[in-house]
Amino acid sequence: MKIITNKKKLIEEINGYNDIGFVPTMGALHNGHISLIKKSIFQSNKTIVSIFINKPQFNKKKDFIKYPRNNKKDILLLKKLKIDILYLPTHNDIYPSGPNKNIKINKFSKELCGKFRPKHFESIVDVVERFVKIINPKRIYFGQKDFQQLLLVEDYIKKNLIKTKVIKCKTIREKTGLAYSSRNMLLTKKEKLTASKVFKFFKKNKSYIFRNNISIKLIKSKLLNFGIDKVEYIKYLNINKIIKPYKKNKRYKVFIAYYINSVRLIDNI
Ligand code: PAJ
Repeated sequence: MKIITNKKKLIEEINGYNDIGFVPTMGALHNGHISLIKKSIFQSNKTIVSIFINKPQFNKKKDFIKYPRNNKKDILLLKKLKIDILYLPTHNDIYPSGPNKNIKINKFSKELCGKFRPKHFESIVDVVERFVKIINPKRIYFGQKDFQQLLLVEDYIKKNLIKTKVIKCKTIREKTGLAYSSRNMLLTKKEKLTASKVFKFFKKNKSYIFRNNISIKLIKSKLLNFGIDKVEYIKYLNINKIIKPYKKNKRYKVFIAYYINSVRLIDNI
């Protein structure tokens, strides 16, 4: 595995590669990331992983500062997985003249997390576009854990960077049902158990909730009883009618963002 920290060197190194799978991450790697990486290794000749904590996508400075960083452990893990290149750029390498303030993305970016995190998805699409332009991968891997991110990036790539294919990967969960997330590292064991109750609740009751049109207010009060500190949003959406082209059959998912202590978690079930 080569570790490259500089854009020019990366471009030189991959000159001649023609079947690249690319997995963008912010590090503090866990089984969710590993599943994307393994899929890329299986499907592609060469696999490139990036670790870059993309400052512009954080709305709160504090959130950026306390985001888990684990490079030493991550490097060992990626070596074991036998990826080809780890790209570890600096902020300046990615943003030589600052972020793109004029990026236009689908209006779905204003819903769910976007309502509470203005410009969050624009900043994600900006960084992904920069990576895609440097690496020109055949495939780029995204997890369904961040479903809104996946749909928005896919829509943008389809409309603007046609050659790269977005590969959707399923959400990987701990035995308790809690979706792996780098932010879980900020939770105590007890808090993780509380978080897992949210998934279990929706898994068990999702169809009952849909069939009987149970009010969000009632669900919120249930969740608060589990020990969750704040529910930011709960929304049911037919995922086949979010971004065009729509599909005919209905497929509903529950989308949720909530806080335990000051740690913000999201999931979709
Ligand atoms: P990060 O949170 O590190 O996630 C990197 C990728 O791993 C994303 O595609 C995410 O959906 C996927 N992932 C995270 N947890 C997962 C899980 N439990 N199961 C399956 N996949 C999971 O998402 C980002 O970084 C950033 O926004 C990024 C795309 C790198 C842009 O900065």
